[in-house]
Amino acid sequence: MARLRKAARIWGNPKAREIGERVLFKSDLGLFAIDPPAMFGRTAPVEIEIGAGKGEFIIERAAEFPERDFIAVELSGTITRVLAVRCGRAELDNLRVVRMDARTLVNLMLRDASVSAFHIYFPDPWPKERHVKHRLFTPTLAASLYRTLEPNAISFVATDVRQYAGEIFRTMEVAGFVRAVDPVPGAERTGFARKYVAAGKPVYSASFRKPGGVIST
Ligand SMILES: C[S@@+](CC[C@H](N)C(=O)[O-])C[C@H]1O[C@@H](n2cnc3c(N)ncnc32)[C@H](O)[C@@H]1O
Repeated sequence: MARLRKAARIWGNPKAREIGERVLFKSDLGLFAIDPPAMFGRTAPVEIEIGAGKGEFIIERAAEFPERDFIAVELSGTITRVLAVRCGRAELDNLRVVRMDARTLVNLMLRDASVSAFHIYFPDPWPKERHVKHRLFTPTLAASLYRTLEPNAISFVATDVRQYAGEIFRTMEVAGFVRAVDPVPGAERTGFARKYVAAGKPVYSASFRKPGGVIST
């Protein structure tokens, strides 16, 4: 309820709303594809965070790498409003917010080999057996992550749920990804990560490389 009230308050403020709308990509225009070069007005490596929450990680990362473009995808309308205002206030030309089910985006709307990195941190674990079908990670999603990543690019994953981590890691390997040694940039830096780290709770993270291409040094 507090979150709903906060989102309503933020969006009810015309100045904040205008700031949020500047970075919020309108996905309700009958679009069938997301075209990052058209979105950003340039061709640059593209990183996507799925389930970006309030954007703690992606705002920092976009500021850190101005030569890359970043898309924060969030399903919840309430959270997206807070996310968009925070991203807009950061005044970064290389950051946009898309409100959408990331499964639609990744499965249907992105071109093959067009993404430089996916960041997927603390996806909802849906712990009850009858809700498992709502989980983000499925063989279909893993196959789509693989299809849309450039050769040699990486999906970064973290979760606080050990059993879900095991399932995600297996699903990624079955899809053709190779477990990589690259540090997972969001494992300690998202909103949820910060809470878990502060509470001393374990975080299970891994990076998965799509084989192929030449590894740059
Ligand atoms: C547990 S929160 C983690 C938020 C953030 N990644 C973090 O670590 O602080 C999961 C987020 O994923 C979003 N989400 C869940 N299913 C999604 C989907 N299918 N597409 C996009 N976002 C989704 C939720 O609305 C929520 O904001």
